[in-house]
This record gives sequence, C-alpha cells and structure tokens, in this order.
Amino acid sequence: MIGKLNHVAIVVPDLQAATAQYRDTLGAQVSSPTDLPEHGVTVVFVELPNTKIELLHPLGADSPIQSFLDKNPKGGMHHLCYEVNDILSARDTLQATGARVLGDGNPKIGAHGNPVLFLHPSDFTGTLVELEQVNTG
Ligand code: CO
Repeated sequence: MIGKLNHVAIVVPDLQAATAQYRDTLGAQVSSPTDLPEHGVTVVFVELPNTKIELLHPLGADSPIQSFLDKNPKGGMHHLCYEVNDILSARDTLQATGARVLGDGNPKIGAHGNPVLFLHPSDFTGTLVELEQVNTG
C-alpha cells in the first residue's frame, strides 16, 4: 500500500535557526518559509536527494503543533509521510483493520497541494503517520 517516504516532519522552536542549521551546517538545499494558515504552520522544505524534511513552526494562536512544542521545547520529530496511489482506498483498508484516521476522516489538501490524511499514532507504533496521495502517472 505505502510507497516512497515523502517527508519527515520536525517541529522546531526557532524556524530561522533550524533553517540555517540545515542550510549552513548540514549543507542542504532549503526553501523560503511558507505560511500554511489552514494547517496552522509555517514550513521550510529541506530537499534531500531521496526525500524531504519539513521544518514546522506554529502559526497562529491555535496551531495544532503548539502542544507538541510545549511538550518538546527543543523540538522533535513530529510525523512521517508515506506516499499512496489512492488515499480513499488506503483509508478504507486501514479503517477496516481498526486503524483510526484523525479528524473527520476525509482527506485535506496538504503542504504539497495533494490530498493527505493522518493516522492515530497509538495505532502505528507511537508514530504519527501522514498518507499523501501522489499521482505517479
Ligand atoms: Co507532513
């Protein structure tokens, strides 16, 4: 069902410092910060040869990642994103096994303009999992 690792998301307390570290210390190619108000985050994309890292910082008063940062003040890994061909089929298959989909169960448009869903970390070895439908055709 799952394909490539699309990205690893890391919540960071200082987006500028984290971006500089990935760019200057680790020598990676990084994007400009992008505000995603509908997701309550500002994101910087770190482009690696085989995947991406997303540096996430809370945007707005009720950002869904603020509580994560409160619990992890130095930041930390937030989720893994796997690519799928058909997100509704993937959802239905997973729900049939008892896995919980967060929110109302319907895909939302994610940071890359593709439909995404999040799966409950308690059902996936303590890791928040994002599925992103990527059209590979
Ligand atoms: Co993500």
